[in-house]
Amino acid sequence: MKAFVFQGPGQTSWQDVPDPGIKDAADVIVRVDAVTICGTDLHIIKGDVPDVAPGTVLGHEAVGEVMETGGDVRTVRPGDRVLVSCIAACGRCRFCRENRYGQCRGGGGWVLGHLVDGTQAEYVRVPFADLSVHPLPSQVDNDDAVLLADIFPTAYEVGVVNGHVGPGDTLVVVGAGPIGLAVIATARLYTPGRIIAVDLAASRLTAARAVGADATVSADEEPERLVEDLTDGLGADVVVEAVGVPESFEMCTRMVRPGGRVANVGVHGKPAALHLEDLWIKDVTITTGLVDTHSTPLLLRMVAAGKLPASGLVTHRFELGQMEEAYDVFSRAADTGALKVVLGGPRHDAVDRPAEPLSAPRV
Ligand SMILES: NC(=O)c1ccc[n+]([C@@H]2O[C@H](COP(=O)([O-])OP(=O)(O)OC[C@H]3O[C@@H](n4cnc5c(N)ncnc54)[C@H](O)[C@@H]3O)[C@@H](O)[C@H]2O)c1
Ligand SMILES: [Zn+2]
Ligand SMILES: [Zn+2]
Repeated sequence: MKAFVFQGPGQTSWQDVPDPGIKDAADVIVRVDAVTICGTDLHIIKGDVPDVAPGTVLGHEAVGEVMETGGDVRTVRPGDRVLVSCIAACGRCRFCRENRYGQCRGGGGWVLGHLVDGTQAEYVRVPFADLSVHPLPSQVDNDDAVLLADIFPTAYEVGVVNGHVGPGDTLVVVGAGPIGLAVIATARLYTPGRIIAVDLAASRLTAARAVGADATVSADEEPERLVEDLTDGLGADVVVEAVGVPESFEMCTRMVRPGGRVANVGVHGKPAALHLEDLWIKDVTITTGLVDTHSTPLLLRMVAAGKLPASGLVTHRFELGQMEEAYDVFSRAADTGALKVVLGGPRHDAVDRPAEPLSAPRV
């Protein structure tokens, strides 16, 4: 088969590799029908994730059809259309039993496209299939589903749920990339009073408005002042960090009100200062997290009901064989306007979309 292989920092190729086969009785083999590229894949290619060995097939998000199942697989059969989650779960370790699949100690967690061959390929072997793939209802099309492999559960769990976004809250989302936009879209399910998006790129702020931000401000134009003005000087109830650089994390901790919450989603490569000399007296809660994907079934039901137009973030489509072109477009997002790129064959044709207009605006 063909697959997108990491060959070492700065080196990748779309090339022939052996077809994957069942290695463990809990495995399935999935034919990849839709796949996307994550910012994390770009980090891997830069050499920021040294655990990824040269020769690894990248990708941790996909939709496809089950071709083969190991003898212990109970929840899916050949022919089923499934979502392949970015997180696999052994289901037996302490963390899996607490729904913290991201922390799995039994061989799961983030393994696809990291520690084992991933989804940017014609076929993928998925370990621990019973808890790592989700059968897809016919109402959910491939473009919506593939965004539920990583970015929507990440945004929802690590941003909205950890931040305890509630009715009437003032929510500030710093960083309006795919993750920040998905935070805005899923936060709206809780009816916050006001959502303010902060980014450096005008195109991202426009996208933030389209998914439901009430106000947008450039990170260069004193966003702290705006938040202060809009909250009578108090600060925001919830601030979500969706960038991953020290400046933005530190800004989040300055924008939060006493007793408020800062939910960090960004992946940080450098230390960020924690100003306890200012924060100790403010009763603030700061959370961190790796996605667990425990919310994927809930998000799938929301998509099936027409309440979460996830695929509004898809800006570009490619055939699977155009992987290198898709990477080029995705990695030059500032020039190309790319949010999410989806690669794959024809869209799922059994889709029965609700006739009612979707409740949230599309990007
Ligand atoms: N915790 C997790 O489990 C998890 C999972 C997936 C991704 N992530 C992380 O979430 C973060 C966001 O992901 P993404 O795919 O949306 O990334 P992205 O790079 O597409 O988006 C980041 C956005 O931040 C903006 N930005 C850059 N510097 C800024 C600043 N100083 N202030 C305000 N905005 C600024 C950029 O213009 C961009 O729009 C990344 O760090 C990613 O690695 C975390
Ligand atoms: Zn990812
Ligand atoms: Zn486990």
